[in-house]
Amino acid sequence: MTYVVTEACIKCKYMDCVEVCPVDCFYEGENMLVISPNECIDCGVCEPECPAEAILPDTEDGLEKWIELNSKYAETWPNITIKRESPADADEFQGVEGKLDKFFSEAPGQGD
Ligand code: SF4
Ligand code: F3S
Repeated sequence: MTYVVTEACIKCKYMDCVEVCPVDCFYEGENMLVISPNECIDCGVCEPECPAEAILPDTEDGLEKWIELNSKYAETWPNITIKRESPADADEFQGVEGKLDKFFSEAPGQGD
């Protein structure tokens, strides 16, 4: 089992999650983070930290594509353990639907 970052993170990227992870298994893309399913120890402490409620346990239904996306980009994006400032317009993207199609970027973030 693992926890998974989902669509709600895209363009919000608050980064509260990275500070609480005991195994530092978050990876940073240009406009979202992912969790490495190979490293996540399933502790669950990151889930309530996310203001966008983007982090879910993989036991929830319908998360297959997100599990795949987290797994794929955790291989190439840089590790992030330190919270930086979230995007200035992050709040405008909370709860917006269709963010994967409209805004997802494969570009890596800057990492630590
Ligand atoms: Fe890290 Fe725990 Fe969240 Fe997994 S569930 S990403 S180990 S804080
Ligand atoms: Fe994304 Fe939530 Fe973390 S918006 S960066 S999963 S705190």
